[in-house]
Amino acid sequence: MLALLWVAVTVTAVAAGGGALQFLAVGDWGGVPDPPFATPREVATAAAMGRAAAAPGADFVLALGDNFYYRGVRDEWDPRFQDTFERVFAVPGLRALPWFVLAGNHDHAGNVTAQLAYSRRSPRWHFPHYYYSLRLRVPGTNATARLLLLDTVLLCGAADDFGPGAPPRGPADAAAAAAQLAWLRARLAAAARDRFVLVAGHYPVWSVAEHGPTACLLRLLRPLLRRHRVTAYLCGHDHNLQFLEEDGVGYVVSGAGNFMEPTQRHGGAVPPGALRFFYGAPESPGGFAHLRLEPHAATVTFLEATGRVLYRVALPPRDL
Ligand SMILES: *[C@@H]1O[C@H](CO)[C@@H](O)[C@H](O)[C@H]1NC(C)=O
Ligand SMILES: *[C@@H]1O[C@H](CO)[C@@H](O)[C@H](O)[C@H]1NC(C)=O
Repeated sequence: MLALLWVAVTVTAVAAGGGALQFLAVGDWGGVPDPPFATPREVATAAAMGRAAAAPGADFVLALGDNFYYRGVRDEWDPRFQDTFERVFAVPGLRALPWFVLAGNHDHAGNVTAQLAYSRRSPRWHFPHYYYSLRLRVPGTNATARLLLLDTVLLCGAADDFGPGAPPRGPADAAAAAAQLAWLRARLAAAARDRFVLVAGHYPVWSVAEHGPTACLLRLLRPLLRRHRVTAYLCGHDHNLQFLEEDGVGYVVSGAGNFMEPTQRHGGAVPPGALRFFYGAPESPGGFAHLRLEPHAATVTFLEATGRVLYRVALPPRDL
């Protein structure tokens, strides 16, 4: 049985971040298993994240899984931690930021316990448990936010990424999946007074791209997101940038840290009108999302690794 964890983050506003809490969300950034262990897109995205950390500013990084292609890491001493993470995300503005990490299907093809253990070896790598909760406060205000990080592979099973749209096969351990879901229900109920609630996992709930919506998450997660008026669900897995909205819940897909794929083969599988933004140009050097929480709004900005702002949307605070 997995232990339940609550992690408190102390936030200090940096750069232009006074009165706001800001973070960068990047998914599917995990390099390649052969030298140089990073793709040009990962390198370009890391450089752009460094610039964004300086301005507009960031207090932490949310890593949305597939941290190490293609089969995760072997143990906590695996050189991939240096080759694909530490040495790539080394620009000064980024070096100082804590990373809060969750696992994707490629991480589960290796040793996720080793990724948890690596939290003891790197001052910036924070991965305390398969799923955990962060309490956030917008500096200088009383506005609080909750960020719940999930393990959607434990919840829904492994996916074969090499088959087109191959869905997760169902959880390997049904009791562990049920325990995670019970934990999520309890954390969402406890977040009733938080101004913003963000939920993050690797697999999408909604996506128009290669993998499309995840049926398991439509069944398990979507009703909870709606019932608890969650501000946004953030994920990766599909290798592009997307924003969708359904019933007041924002769906952020940020899976462009290493690969970029243009297909919208599941365009007909999302609710009509839900897709507000899609970017997956194959010639693009990658991208990520910047989130800015202020008492009056949570602003999501999608940035290309060139620094170009691709799309911006402001999500309202929850009605408390
Ligand atoms: C996974 O990593 C942990 C931490 O380094 C290590 O103790 C364990 O032996 C590894 N498991 C396997 C199967 O190699
Ligand atoms: C925060 O709440 C406390 C207690 O209710 C109040 O005294 C204080 O003025 C509030 N601060 C801000 C910035 O709203």
